[in-house]
Amino acid sequence: MAVDYTTHDGVAVVTLNNPPVNGLGLSTRAGIVAGIERAQSDPAIRAIVLTGAGKAFSGGADITEFNTPKATQEPTLATVIQVVESSAKPVIAAIHSVAMGGGLELALGAHYRIAAPGAQIALPEVKLGILPGAGGTQRLPRAIGLEAALNMIVSGTPVLSEKLTDSGLFDEIAQGDLAEAALTFARRVGAQTGPHPKVRDRKIEHPNAAGFIQFARNSVAAIAKNFPAPHKCIDAVEAGVQNGFDKGLAVERECFVALVQTPESRALRHAFFGERAASKIPDVPSDTPTRDIQRVAVIGAGTMGGGIAMNFVNAGIPVTLLETKQEALDRGIATIRKNYEATVRKGRLKPEALEQRMALLTPTLSYDDLKDADLIVEAVFEELGVKEQVFRRLDEVAKPGAILASNTSTLDVDRIAAFTKRPQDVVGMHFFSPANVMKLLEVVRGEHTAKDVLATVMKLAKKIRKTAVVSGVCDGFIGNRMIEQYIRQALFMLEEGALPAQVDRAIEKFGFAMGPFRMSDLAGNDIGWAIRKRRYQEQPDMHYSKVADRLCELGRFGQKTGGGWYDYKAGDRTAYPSKAVDEMIVGYCAETQAPRRKIGDEEIVERLVLSLVNEGAKILEEGIASKASDIDMVYLTGYGFPLYRGGPMLYADTVGLYNVERAIRRYAAQPNGDAWQIAPGLAKLAAEGRGFNG
Ligand code: 3HC
Ligand code: NAI
Repeated sequence: MAVDYTTHDGVAVVTLNNPPVNGLGLSTRAGIVAGIERAQSDPAIRAIVLTGAGKAFSGGADITEFNTPKATQEPTLATVIQVVESSAKPVIAAIHSVAMGGGLELALGAHYRIAAPGAQIALPEVKLGILPGAGGTQRLPRAIGLEAALNMIVSGTPVLSEKLTDSGLFDEIAQGDLAEAALTFARRVGAQTGPHPKVRDRKIEHPNAAGFIQFARNSVAAIAKNFPAPHKCIDAVEAGVQNGFDKGLAVERECFVALVQTPESRALRHAFFGERAASKIPDVPSDTPTRDIQRVAVIGAGTMGGGIAMNFVNAGIPVTLLETKQEALDRGIATIRKNYEATVRKGRLKPEALEQRMALLTPTLSYDDLKDADLIVEAVFEELGVKEQVFRRLDEVAKPGAILASNTSTLDVDRIAAFTKRPQDVVGMHFFSPANVMKLLEVVRGEHTAKDVLATVMKLAKKIRKTAVVSGVCDGFIGNRMIEQYIRQALFMLEEGALPAQVDRAIEKFGFAMGPFRMSDLAGNDIGWAIRKRRYQEQPDMHYSKVADRLCELGRFGQKTGGGWYDYKAGDRTAYPSKAVDEMIVGYCAETQAPRRKIGDEEIVERLVLSLVNEGAKILEEGIASKASDIDMVYLTGYGFPLYRGGPMLYADTVGLYNVERAIRRYAAQPNGDAWQIAPGLAKLAAEGRGFNG
C-alpha cells in the first residue's frame, strides 16, 4: 500500500509511503483519496494531516507514468486535489524535506500548510519540459503573489521553506517535531467550524499584472529559445490572472497535455533519468562498500591537473599537488589562484572562501608527501613513458588501498595499470577541459579495476558535482571515439564542397554549442593532427581527409596561434571566416581532383549527427557503454549536444532507426562512403522496429 492511515485522538494522518520520493503514481493517488474518504466517514475524526514518509513530503507526479495509461487513470492528481480541497474536515499538509511539482500542488489543495525548516519547495516541471499540471500555475500565484510565483514556475528552482515564512504559503513553520506540531495545529483548526480556507478563493493582487507578465515574457524569450514550456507557463498564469481560476486551470491542462508529448519534454525527462541511471553499473550492486576518500593528490599542475585539483578543493577535500619542477608548481598554483580570483570578481565566491580553498592545497615536489592520499589522480604529459615512470613511483609510495587514477585521454588504462602491482586499484578518471567547469567525467573501467574502486569513484563524482559515466577501455573512450567519426565527416565535407563556416553554422543551428571547426580551433588543431599521424601508422586502412593536415602544415593550430580554420584577432575569440583557408580548401580539391558540389545544411547535420549515432551503436555493441542513455549523457554534458534533443541516441530514436539506417546506407554509397560501416546492432534494432532506448 502506497499510503498509510493512522488516527491520533481525533486526527487522521494520511501518510504517503511510496519510496524513494513519494511520487504520486496511481496507487499513491488512490491511497490518498481512500484515506480522505475514510476520515470523512469516521465521526471521531475532526481534521486530517497529509504528510510523507521517508525522505520527502512528495517529489511530485511519478514521471515514469507519463504518456502511459496510468497517468490519466482516475483518480488523477487533479481529482485527488479536488477531493482534498472539498473535504469538509480541514486538511493540513505537513511538509518536510521535499515538496515539489505535484507534491506542492497537492499541498496547495490543502486548507492549511505547516512546514519544517529546510524543506525544498519547487514547481520544477519546466525542467522536464512541461508545466505544473495540477493547479500549480493557478494556486501558487494566489498563495505567494504573482511575481514570486512566476519566478518559481518559470525557473523551476527550489526555495527553502524558511525563506517562504512570510510568503503566505505556510500557516506555520514548525520549529520542533513536525508531526507533533501538525497534530497540535490540526486539533486546533479541527475544533473550528468551517468552511476552511481554500487557496483557489484568494485574489491575485498586483499593481500592474499585465506589465509584469509582459516583462516575464521578454525575459523568457531571451533564455528559453528552444524550449516551449516556459512560454506556456506564462500563458497559463496569465489566463488565471485575466479570466479567473477555472479558466486558468483549463488553459493549464491544455498546455500540459500538449507539452508532455513534445520531443523537448521527452529529451529532458530522458536526461533526468539518464543522469541517475549513469551512476548505476550493471554488475556493481548499489550496496557495494566504498573506500573512504579524505585526501587526494594530483600529479601534474598543468591545464588539467590544476582544474582537477580545484574540483576536490571546492568540495572541501584537501589536495596535494605534485610537479617535477618548482617553477611548474608555482605556475600551477598561481593559475588556480587566478581562477578563484576571477570567481571572486564575478561575486560568486567570497574573498575569505578563496583563502580557505587555497589553504586546502599543498604543493610539493616530493612523492613522500603522497603517502597519506586515498586517491591519486595523474595528469602528466600524454606519453606512455612518462605515465610509466609516474605509476611505478606511485606503486612504491601510495598506501595500500589508495586509488590510482589516470586522466589520460588516449592511452590504454590497462597498460597503465600493468605498471603497478595493484591493477585492481587503477582506474581512468577522464575529466574534460576546463576540468573545474565541465560536468562530464568519464570513469574508465580497466580489465582489473575493482568494483569497490568504481563504486567509490562514482560516489566521489557526485560529491564533486560531476556527471560520471562509465566507459570500457578503447581508443578515445566513449566521447572522443565518437567525435573522431564526426570530425572525419566534417573534413570530408570540406573536400566535397562545403566550407568551415557553413558546416559550423548548420550544426550550430541544429543546436550544438559549437561547430567542429570552431571547436578544433579552440582545442588546438595540432591535437587532431597528432591523433591522425598515429592513425596513419596504426590503421593505414582508415581513410582520412588530408585537408586538416594541410592546415596544420601552415602552422594554423587555432586560437592559440591566431589562426586555424578561422582568423582571430588578438584578445578576441570571435571566429572570422578566413579567405586564405577557404582558398586553401578549394585549391586542395583542385589538386586532388575532388569535385566540389553544393552541400545542403540538412546533409551536413545528418552526416555529422549520424556519424555519432553509428559509432555510438558500435560502442554499445562492444559493451564500452552499458546503455544508450550513458552515451547521451556524455554528449549532453561534455560535447555541447543540444539538451532539447536529448543526446545522439535519443535523437536517433526520435528520427526512427529505420530512417537512420537508410540515410547511413545512402551515404555509404557516396564518395568517402567507406567511413560508413553500419553498426550491426543499429541495423538489427531498425529491422526489429525498435530504438536504442527501447
Ligand atoms: N517521479 C518518479 N521518480 C522520481 C521522481 C518523480 N517525480 N523524483 C525522483 N524520482 C526517483 C529518481 O529517478 C531516483 O530513482 P532511482 O533511485 O531509481 O535512480 C530516486 O527517485 C531518487 O532521486 P534522486 O537520486 O534525484 O534523489 P535526491 O534525494 O538527490 O533528490 C528530488 C530528490 C529532489 C525529489 C529529485 O529526485 C528531483 O528533483 N526529482 C524531480 C522532481 C520533479 O521534477 N517533480 C515534478 C514532477 S512532474 C509533476 O509533478 C507534474 C505535475 O505538475 C502534474
Ligand atoms: P599540460 O602539459 O598542460 O600539463 C602537464 C603537466 O604535467 C605539466 O605541468 C608538467 O610539468 C607536468 N609533468 C610532466 N611530467 C611529470 C611528472 N613526471 N611528474 C609530475 N608532473 C609532471 O597537459 P594537460 O593538457 O594538463 O594534460 C595532462 C593529461 O590530461 C594528459 O594525459 C592529457 O591527455 C589529459 N587530458 C587533457 C585534456 C585537455 O583538454 N588538455 C582533456 C582531458 C585529458
